[in-house]
Amino acid sequence: MEPEKNLKPVNIVELRAMRSRGEKIASLTCYDASFALVQDRAGVDFILIGDSLGMVLHGGNTTTPVTVSDIVYHARCVAPHLKRAFLVADLPFLSYATLDRALDSSQRLMQEGGAKMVKLEGGREQASIVEYLAVRGVPVCAHLGLQPQFVHKMGAFKVQGRDEAAAEAMLHDAHVLVEAGADLLLLECIPSELGRRITEASPVPVIGIGAGPAVDGQILVMHDILHISPMVTLGRTPRFVKNFMAGALDIESAFRAYVAEVKSGAYPAPAHCF
Ligand code: KIV
Repeated sequence: MEPEKNLKPVNIVELRAMRSRGEKIASLTCYDASFALVQDRAGVDFILIGDSLGMVLHGGNTTTPVTVSDIVYHARCVAPHLKRAFLVADLPFLSYATLDRALDSSQRLMQEGGAKMVKLEGGREQASIVEYLAVRGVPVCAHLGLQPQFVHKMGAFKVQGRDEAAAEAMLHDAHVLVEAGADLLLLECIPSELGRRITEASPVPVIGIGAGPAVDGQILVMHDILHISPMVTLGRTPRFVKNFMAGALDIESAFRAYVAEVKSGAYPAPAHCF
């Protein structure tokens, strides 16, 4: 496949512009150079070094053991190979438990790893951390809904925001986090209707994973869409996952099909939503 000609790097301004013009944002996780080159060429708009690497690369049951050094290592494998895609990196479990730790961890992800934004999990209780980072020039993506780092508090990975009280609380969390300086919201595993309400109320782009079709963009774990993640192999494929390898000639075609279906709105279909 020929390299793309339109290689103007995506940045936060472009992500906002995509939202304004109604163009859906296509995102995937990525952890190494080979896949980074192919995803970038396939037109993935933003790439996340997700702490999901603890599950899809290390084979763990949770993301809890992932460290800042793990994320930095994989960010360094990816960052130099991106000509266009925007690079976001996860702040792993407890790496933002205090203001100082959040700043040190973000410094490592951005200066050593080459990330252009950090992502953290949590609601309004993270507002002071978001503000502390944002005023120091660290762009933040706030991850709401299912927060895998809280699995040991929740007991299981399950859909969030199902009743009206929980939905209202999440809407309020989103508002508080954006007021604190979050540049992007990420919603995981919530009813589509709540995804729509948060997106309509949000002044910043909203990316969803299992959050329905009304959000501004979609993100999935790369190994899930290639249908090779442990969850898939062990028969526990999440509802929102679609196998883009089915019918694809090669991995690049699968990534291109994913980008095309996100942009057209064909993905997610009702079968992928809650
Ligand atoms: O770690 C990760 O891959 C994530 C995605 C599920 C959004 O946070």
